Amino acid sequence: MAIQRPKGTQDHLPDGSPKLGLDTRAAAFHFIRETARRVLERAGAQQIDTPIFEDAEVVKRGVGGSTDIVRKEMFTVYYFGDHGGFILRPEATAGVVRAYLQNGLKQLPAPLKLWLHGPMFRAENVQKGRLRQFHQVDYEVLGSTDPLVDAETISLLVDVVRALGLKQVKVKLGSIGDPEDREAYNAYLRDLFTPHVDRLSDDGRARLERNPMRILDGKAPGDQELIAELGVKPMLDFLGEGARAHFEQVRAYLDAWDVAYDIDPSIVRGLDYYRRTAWELHHEGVGAKSALCGGGRYDGLAQELGSKDPVPGIGWAFGMERLLLAMEADGVVIPESDGPLLYVAALDDANVGHAATVAMTARQVARTEFAYKAMKPGNVFRDAERRRARFVALIGSDEVEQDTLTVKNLATGQQTTVPTRDLLAFLKGQLALTPTPLENA
Ligand code: HAM
Repeated sequence: MAIQRPKGTQDHLPDGSPKLGLDTRAAAFHFIRETARRVLERAGAQQIDTPIFEDAEVVKRGVGGSTDIVRKEMFTVYYFGDHGGFILRPEATAGVVRAYLQNGLKQLPAPLKLWLHGPMFRAENVQKGRLRQFHQVDYEVLGSTDPLVDAETISLLVDVVRALGLKQVKVKLGSIGDPEDREAYNAYLRDLFTPHVDRLSDDGRARLERNPMRILDGKAPGDQELIAELGVKPMLDFLGEGARAHFEQVRAYLDAWDVAYDIDPSIVRGLDYYRRTAWELHHEGVGAKSALCGGGRYDGLAQELGSKDPVPGIGWAFGMERLLLAMEADGVVIPESDGPLLYVAALDDANVGHAATVAMTARQVARTEFAYKAMKPGNVFRDAERRRARFVALIGSDEVEQDTLTVKNLATGQQTTVPTRDLLAFLKGQLALTPTPLENA
């Protein structure tokens, strides 16, 4: 058997591929990226790209030592003579804040809105919607603690998923308080769980030691039973005055804008850098356990990465593969990409080069393909239809002699003679007549 791709990775394939799935369709990823770009850039976001591998410290200090991501899921990068000081990024936020600090982006007008898309890597148990290389669209706002920014950030997420055609989505909104609130909550959980430590799974016990809040996020059924039995109070009950007032203001803005959400009093999130506002986006069709998107405020992250000054921040990221599963469940149809506007073919060998020249000129205006070999007219039309071309230009010796093209509209069958020098004007006219497909613009 020929060499296979690694487990938990996917190839993104062109339309028409025999093994095409919705979440392996390159055109679908393109559609998501471009829709997100449109919505986010209209709100003032600018694109940033950071390396897909970072100093391991960026992730360990950013995402946090007690998280599954750092403890179990990091892909270490080794190369000759190196001892594994780099890792493939499991998420984008820590790298974006690292780039903000390193490149003096503080000097840009605040709040600074950044967005990014690209692959992320987590060595997880592979299941539907859970991959080892997956792709995120990530949005971050740096330089403001204003609850208005929190509300705008959540509202933009809703705008993006609506623009993608999703319907059955729910924002689950909570707050995980300030660090001192979290300490108080962890102390409460420690007291509550310690007498029952022998009922916790190994994972639950490790969580009790490192960061009791993580127990609530655990997957072991026994742990979840214990949580239910003990009637654990939610994090929201432990918010201090500052975090509570902030949360109320975020809610007031969302209510005023009619952005729907459910309060999730026990939201935990799987990364350590969060403070105050935190949320997830869920979809009924994808299952309750897996969020489409997660986000929150992370005002302490810059200092964790070594900044003297605090840089408040907030953002979210969604996994494109999970979003595609949700779009499938909602019956969203992503249009097939358009075929070429023009397909040029020569009827005899001597004119193949001339046909190529005509096609390359036509590309100044629209997507154009040409036949690499001379063909009989019937074969040309069959081939053009397979490629979903709209017009075919045939070039035989008569056409070359008269410096014209015989252009056929494949949909109507109508045939016209176009002087070669008028071809660009002819194509522009056709584009003006029909809505311009992206590929032909
Ligand atoms: P996260 O909740 O770890 O947050 O991941 C965000 C989204 O990435 C998830 O909701 C899911 O759609 C997708 N995702 C995560 N792991 C996988 C996987 N193994 N396979 C497929 N999809 C996955 C973050 O990454 C934060 N950086 C979000 C953020 C940005 N917070 C503030 N700014």
